[in-house]
This record gives sequence, structure tokens and C-alpha cells, in this order.
Amino acid sequence: MREFTTPQALQTFRRSLTGSIGFVPTMGALHNGHISLIKESVAHNDHTIVSIFVNPTQFLEGEDLDKYPRKIEADLKICEMAGVEAVFMPTTDAVYNPDEMRFLAPRVKGYILEGYHRPGHFDGMLQIVLKLLNLVRPTRAYFGKKDAQQLYLIQKMVHDLYLDTEIVPCEIVREEDGLALSSRNIYLSDSDRIRALTLSKALKHATHLIISGERKSEAIIQEMKQVLNVDKLDYIAIVDRNFDRLEEVIVKESIILIAAWVGGTRLIDNIWV
Ligand code: PAF
Repeated sequence: MREFTTPQALQTFRRSLTGSIGFVPTMGALHNGHISLIKESVAHNDHTIVSIFVNPTQFLEGEDLDKYPRKIEADLKICEMAGVEAVFMPTTDAVYNPDEMRFLAPRVKGYILEGYHRPGHFDGMLQIVLKLLNLVRPTRAYFGKKDAQQLYLIQKMVHDLYLDTEIVPCEIVREEDGLALSSRNIYLSDSDRIRALTLSKALKHATHLIISGERKSEAIIQEMKQVLNVDKLDYIAIVDRNFDRLEEVIVKESIILIAAWVGGTRLIDNIWV
């Protein structure tokens, strides 16, 4: 497996490749969720490239940038075993310069829900994803549905800027008890982990309500709140696939999203219904 730390070295390598390229951008601390994206890419492309970069511009002042888990040795082993051909792991200085061009998230869809609670987060996320897509020029890039609004905005960027990459959405990977995998789960104490489970339980409850005929978003949200046991609820929202709020669930076209704090950890989860 090749390892690159500069954009120039990665570009030289990329120019030598023919055939389809699958790309999995990550911030490292790889878990089974990332591994499922990598497996998808390896199965459907001639070459798979993974990036590992904790992108500072998508963290807000006071967020967990400094303590974000970094496990580079373990990550490289996982990539190698999964059949990755090259890993790109730049330093911040290698991919950013002080007075650079900025690509900004759309002012409406980039500033609701996650974007409202983490203003500027999507500007930084899209800036790095655009750089990475330009460097790797992948045939396909793989993103988890857990970051549903991120996935939507990346699809929108690819569409609006005519990027020649297919964005492949991948299913959320959960622990057996339902907890959605996240690199941030390691912050949870045992008791917090039990309360964190109430996010997926609330989503499951919403699905049951919908199966039994309930469609009113507000009624579903109120019921979900009864299931949650969290320290602070940022939002529960029911939106369509374009992130427009829905008064009533439209089956097969809706996403139910939750963001909440358990102890000092902010968790997100969602279900596509
Ligand atoms: O989802 C992530 O891990 C990050 O937001 C991404 C897409 C790698 C950009 O830094």
C-alpha cells in the first residue's frame, strides 16, 4: 500500500492510474462504518484511495479538534487489510494556505440543522472535500448516510460544480444494540452509552408509528422526545431528501434526524423512511 503526505505526490500517483478509482475520505479512527465504505469501493473499482485527515476548518472554536481520536498506525493496518491501494494523509499546511480561495456551503441548506448548530462547519467540510475530489478525481466517492446533511451537500456541490464523480451513499452501520457507529462513541462512559442508545430507540419508535399509520411530523417528534434520555436535544427534524421540512412524512421520501448531547458528547443519528 502506498502512503502519500503531499498533494503533489498524490497527483503524480493518480496520473499513473487507469481504470475506475474509488475514494473514501475519512478523518481516521476507522471503525466498521468506514470499513464498509472501503469494502464497497474495493468491490466496485479498480483502485481504492482513502484519505485520513482531521480537517481543522470543519471544527468550530471550542469543539473537539484537539481531542479527536487519532490512530494512524491502526488505521493504516485496516486500510491495507481491506485492499486499499493508497492512503493520503497530509498535514494541515500541505493542503491549506493562509489566503486561499474559499468554497462556501449554500446559505440556506448549509445553515439549517447541523449548519445552524455548527455554523461554518459545512463551509470547512465542503472546502476540504472539494480539494480532495480535485486531487483524487475519483470515479466514485463513498459517504455514509449517518452524516445525511453532509451527504446531501456533497451531492449538491458535485451537481452544482459539474464534478465528474458519482457520490455513493452507504448505509449506516450500527452496533448490535442499535448504536450508530461513530469515532466519537469512544468519548461515552458506560452510563452515557446506555443513554446514547435512546437516539436509535427513538428513531425505531418513529418507524413503528409510521408503520401503524401516523404521518404527522409534529406528533412523531413529540413521541420520540418521550423515548430520548439525553442531556440536551439540539433537534429532531423530519425532512425530505432535499432537506426541506415536512409537515407530514412521505413514505420512501423522508429522513428523520436527531442531534443530541449525552454528557459532553454530541451525537447524530437518522433513519431514511
Ligand atoms: O465525514 C467525515 O469524516 C468528514 O466530514 C470528511 C467527509 C472526511 C471531510 O473531512
